[in-house]
This record gives sequence, C-alpha cells and structure tokens, in this order.
Amino acid sequence: MSRPLSILGISGSLRRDSYNTALLRAARTLLPEQVTFSTAEIGDLPLYNRDVEARGFPPAVLRLRRAMQEADGILFATPEYNWSITGALKNAIDWASRPPQAPLDYIPAALISGGGRSGGARSQAHLREVLAHNRTQVLEEPEVLVPRVWEAFTDGVLTSEQVWDDLRALVGAFIDQIDRDRAQRPTVVVLGRHGDIMARTLHLLAADYRAHGALTDAEAIRLIDERQPAAIVVGGGVERASRDAVAAHAAAAVPAAAVVDVIGPDTIAARLAAVLG
Ligand SMILES: Cc1cc2nc3c(=O)[nH]c(=O)nc-3n(C[C@H](O)[C@H](O)[C@H](O)COP(=O)(O)O)c2cc1C
Repeated sequence: MSRPLSILGISGSLRRDSYNTALLRAARTLLPEQVTFSTAEIGDLPLYNRDVEARGFPPAVLRLRRAMQEADGILFATPEYNWSITGALKNAIDWASRPPQAPLDYIPAALISGGGRSGGARSQAHLREVLAHNRTQVLEEPEVLVPRVWEAFTDGVLTSEQVWDDLRALVGAFIDQIDRDRAQRPTVVVLGRHGDIMARTLHLLAADYRAHGALTDAEAIRLIDERQPAAIVVGGGVERASRDAVAAHAAAAVPAAAVVDVIGPDTIAARLAAVLG
C-alpha cells in the first residue's frame, strides 16, 4: 500500500491572529481524510547566517528541513509586507535552500494569500520567483488571493463563500498535482558518505526522482522504512559491509526496491533509468 499523501502548511505570518494562518487552517478542513497535514514553525528560526550554517544547521532549521523533505507538497500562505513576502518566510526559504539536501527542489507547492487591496498579489509574485530559483513546482492555477482579507472573516471564522470556493478549487488541483508528481518521480534513497557529492547527486536526480539523501546507514534505514523507495542508490564511497547491511534491510522492508551501486554521480541517472524504466 502506498504512503498516505502528506501536505506541509507554512504561513509567512508569525502573529497569533494571522488571517493567512487562518486561511491555511480553512484549507486544511477541505483535505480528503487520507491526506495528512502538518504545519511548520518558522518563527523560531535564527536569521540565516553562513557562519552559523558552517557550524551545522541549528535544531529549528533541521526540523523545518526534515518536515519539508517528508512532505509530498507544501502549501504556503503568504501575507504581503511592503509589496513582498515577509522576512520570516524569506528567511525560512533561505535556510531550506541550502545543500546537501535542498528540500524545495521540485516539490509541488501551492500559494494562498490574504492582504489589502491586491490580496497579496505582489507577495505571491515574489514568492513564485523565489521558489522558481529553488525549482519548486508551484501550481499555476487556480490562484487564491483574498483582497481586504479581514472582510472574509467574522469573529475569526472564514465566512466568505467565495473564498471557501476558491480554496476548494485550489485544494483539488493541488492534490491532483501531487498525485501526478508522485507517479512521475519515483522515490529513491541515496546512501553516500560525502556531503558535497551528495549535494551534486541529489541535484542531478531531483528532476526525475524524489531523492532523499543519507550520509549514515541509520539514516538510510530510517528513510527506507518511512519512504518505501523504489530504489536505493549506494555511492562508491560506501564500505562493502554497510552496503550489504542496508541492502539486506531494504530486501526485508521493501522487497520490490532495487539496489543500484554507482561509481560516480554521472552514471547514477543512467543506472536508475535502466533499473526503474
Ligand atoms: C510591515 C507591513 C507591511 C505591509 N505591507 C502591505 C503591502 O504591501 N500590501 C498589502 O496588501 N498589505 C500590506 N500590509 C498589510 C498586511 O497584508 C495585513 O496586515 C495582513 O493581514 C497581514 O497578514 P496576517 O493577517 O496573516 O498577519 C502590511 C502590513 C505590515 C505589518
């Protein structure tokens, strides 16, 4: 049986009574029962600083990146601040965009915004640009833009039928997009030992595969159990005993999964294509 489809919601607003966060909550109520939904916390992320990154991703960053990696799609609710996205959201995306695993790579995404007269149109346009740089697959239509967002709510409850209809249309189209993506990009787990080679490999594979990288055997085993991959790619630098232990685990946990041994990153795509078709 395939994994249930999972969506991660991210609101660019940190305030408790945010309309954008409320739009996200409303969208959540429209999801079919078998779809899981979780929200990511971005208010506790430090400001992006390469010196901090060089010492290792802080725990809040790791939590965000893992939540993105585990999601099949990301639903962004983006307020408009000064004709753009909020600093908090840009900061979160900056952290998420860093290798070795760039969790925004090719992941399906959809956008909602509530704002003033334009309904956050400029913020959505900017977010599309930022996400395009990350190769995120943003749903083109339908768009959900809520002008004068405060008028769509009564005592904190979404009461605009028009907005409910727009959200319903977006959720339906988004789930179709995620289903297509899951069918078109098989999940693979890549076991390697070197962060920079892993980054290149994941970048290379992202267009055709939902690739998850593991630098340790334990991480590979966790990913195999959780992601049920179609294949496990084993890098050339992995010791024979590790390769055999992970392959044995995969054979028991996901019998249909292929194990693909590779020498260099250039051969991986060809080898995978030969095995998975
Ligand atoms: C710093 C700041 C800048 C803003 N700039 C814009 C803007 O450029 N365009 C707009 O439509 N609304 C703007 N607003 C209004 C917000 O869109 C509005 O407060 C919205 O409700 C914020 O989203 P939230 O309710 O999810 O927190 C701005 C608000 C703040 C605090």
